[in-house]
Amino acid sequence: MDKTFHIITFGCQMNVGDSDWLARALVSRGWRQTPEEDAWLFVVNTCSVRDKPEQKVYSELGRLAQHRKGKPGLTAAVGGCVAQQIGRGFFERFPFVRLVFGSDGIAGAPDALDELAENPAGRIALLDFLGAYPEREDVLTLSTRTPAPAFDADLGEPEAGPAQAFVNIMQGCDNFCAYCIVPYTRGRQKSRQPEAVLAECRTRVEQGAREVTLLGQNVNSFGQDLGADGAGVGFAGLLRQVAAIPGLVRLRFTTSHPKDIDPAVIRAFGELENLCPALHLPLQAGSDEILRRMGRKVDRARYLAIVQALRAARPDLALTTDLIVGFPGETEDDFLQTLDMMERVRFESSFSFRYSDRPGVAAARLRPKVPEEVGQERLLRLQSLQNGITKESLKALEGCETDVLLEAPSRRQDEGGHFWRGRDPGGRVVNVRLSGAGAEGSGSPLCGRMVRVRIVEAKNHSLLGEEVGLPW
Ligand code: SAH
Ligand code: SF4
Ligand code: F3S
Repeated sequence: MDKTFHIITFGCQMNVGDSDWLARALVSRGWRQTPEEDAWLFVVNTCSVRDKPEQKVYSELGRLAQHRKGKPGLTAAVGGCVAQQIGRGFFERFPFVRLVFGSDGIAGAPDALDELAENPAGRIALLDFLGAYPEREDVLTLSTRTPAPAFDADLGEPEAGPAQAFVNIMQGCDNFCAYCIVPYTRGRQKSRQPEAVLAECRTRVEQGAREVTLLGQNVNSFGQDLGADGAGVGFAGLLRQVAAIPGLVRLRFTTSHPKDIDPAVIRAFGELENLCPALHLPLQAGSDEILRRMGRKVDRARYLAIVQALRAARPDLALTTDLIVGFPGETEDDFLQTLDMMERVRFESSFSFRYSDRPGVAAARLRPKVPEEVGQERLLRLQSLQNGITKESLKALEGCETDVLLEAPSRRQDEGGHFWRGRDPGGRVVNVRLSGAGAEGSGSPLCGRMVRVRIVEAKNHSLLGEEVGLPW
């Protein structure tokens, strides 16, 4: 049997990072990553944060079964948050699923898959939570780095290029926000040892990464669970150490809970040159009563004070957020407060969701539920206000010059230009018309190049720019 695999990824950047690691671990053991049609093994890395991505997992597995009808030997592994939630239930519902693994179990997935390839009747479940961050096999020295998988369109992020590295700094979450399933699917917060984070960042930079994104469900509480073991390195300290790695051009992190943001992290935005002026700071709701019922432990005033301090430290900071509408008990007045916060902060963009009941979370028991059509109507109003603000903030950048880290050829190749897609320091997507040396050849050498760009036009959700130099 040819050891070939194909990975399908749903969910957040932590899942994207996990899939990327798994692909590299399998390749280092002699497996080959192939297009879907040619793969023996399908890995579906799943997200359970709302009902919709959970349902997508079942339809995806149904689609695979349908597609392979008549051809024997369909084999699948299900990982991530739905795997943790449903566990062995997958074996009954989809008999071709032979491995389920959760977020701590992933460290053992490559061994398990090797074993299953040898033993066609076997089934393995890796669902235990561990007491400490589960360090994974080091597969960083691999020369054939596999491309990162595409991000789930549900959360709207484009795929990452090889010049960008995602590095986990922690696993799990202790916050238990009333609506959220993550603490149940990812387990309790476990920070990684700072030296392990630094070593991985250094290796990735040596291998060509120019941008590192530190990942965790709540990076601001990094180290709080390590005690003396962590040698007192909190998130601000970790940021400084990573930022000092020679050759690291851009440093980002996600996600931040506002309740834990340290003044030293706010100051870092003004002090660390390679820390990008971009921050995703989930607000979730604009009404103090709803924030209280959500258990967010931050009110409007505190959130606004944090935003003010951040903007004082870094005036060009691009702030983005997550918002939920239709949380149980949300009134029209509560919702208007969310719109009000949006106008006050003027987020550059936001991910907004209609509240979705998740099994076992505290909000599932809260009443009254907001009717679906009311939630839907609020979502549309919220998104229409955001679209206007996004448009205006992008428009304000027309005529400015900025640096863009090129990621991949752009879908847009018209108007006689050669276009590449990348991001500015604020994380905005910029489609760049290349004119100079960069325009020759559309191959991968351009990936990871930094170009100087003049913004010529603001589109609805992205920018259009022209290369004015290829400095580095
Ligand atoms: N750790 C991150 C959030 C991860 S989940 C943080 O605290 O910011 C990503 C987003 O999904 C959340 O910010 C929230 O806006 C949304 N979300 C989580 N549970 C949800 C639910 N039950 N219904 C709707 N949206 C939800
Ligand atoms: Fe979920 Fe809250 Fe933890 Fe974020 S901080 S993962 S929203 S429980
Ligand atoms: Fe989804 Fe799990 Fe991430 S629920 S958002 S994949 S932590």
